Amino acid sequence: MINVVFLGFGNVNSHLFDALYKRKEVAVKQVFNRNYIKLISPYENIPFTDDVSKIEDADVYIIGIPDDAISAFSESMPFQNRLVVHTSGGVAMDALSNKNRGGIFYPLQTFSKQRKVDFKNIPICIEAENSKDLKLLRSLGETISGNVVEISSEKRAKLHLAAVFVNNFVNHLYQIGSEILDKESLPFDLLKPLILETASKIETLSPNEAQTGPAKRNDIKTIEKHLHLLDDSEYVKFYELFTEALKKV
Ligand SMILES: NC(=O)c1ccc[n+]([C@@H]2O[C@H](COP(=O)([O-])OP(=O)(O)OC[C@H]3O[C@@H](n4cnc5c(N)ncnc54)[C@H](OP(=O)(O)O)[C@@H]3O)[C@@H](O)[C@H]2O)c1
Repeated sequence: MINVVFLGFGNVNSHLFDALYKRKEVAVKQVFNRNYIKLISPYENIPFTDDVSKIEDADVYIIGIPDDAISAFSESMPFQNRLVVHTSGGVAMDALSNKNRGGIFYPLQTFSKQRKVDFKNIPICIEAENSKDLKLLRSLGETISGNVVEISSEKRAKLHLAAVFVNNFVNHLYQIGSEILDKESLPFDLLKPLILETASKIETLSPNEAQTGPAKRNDIKTIEKHLHLLDDSEYVKFYELFTEALKKV
């Protein structure tokens, strides 16, 4: 049995909690959050505390709080030499206080509280200071995911960088598309089949093979027309940058 305490209860930890709670190999001992939260059915029996001095013994403590708060928060733990991990893609393992044994439990997915997720195919990137802890994190990850991978802090930082391109930046481009349609009173729904097919294609084609469009075809007339339609908006620079980059691929 792996005993787990959750430290913080935001987007990531609330989903991890939900997934790990259901596993018979895992016992969720406690949830800590600096502000009070009410755990609702079926979780009302899980002990909650907002007092760091009352955090219970566990095999692993999972910190799920914003990146810039991880270091100081890990330093505030009232115990020593226990396994304390964080869930960040971009924060190195050595950012954790060295009074405990550090580790990483980074689920590579986008999490929002209101969206259910299935952990089965979510890569869980692990790292630990010693092999025993690494083994424990692997066992913990494998209770919910079929894809647990050991990755160093340096490589995880690059993985996170790549994830920002394919997730956050792409999502921002949806936002631009949505604004362009909004101005014409056209529904964003019109773009959804295209968005879904673009994402599905990379199951069988490389990103390079999947690319289509005016830049790839070097269709100067269409490109000029689009720039004219953008009418000096702030999106001209995005269009030009992407078009130039795509022409070079
Ligand atoms: N969201 C994602 O898609 C995603 C994906 C993978 C990894 N991550 C990583 O997972 C971690 C958590 O991300 P998240 O999106 O779950 O964050 P989040 O929802 O913004 O986290 C909110 C939680 O952090 C607590 N918190 C905020 N500032 C704190 C502080 N100074 N001290 C102690 N607790 C504090 C909040 O407590 P209160 O309720 O008391 O305010 C709340 O429990 C981050 O390292 C992030 O990089 C996020």
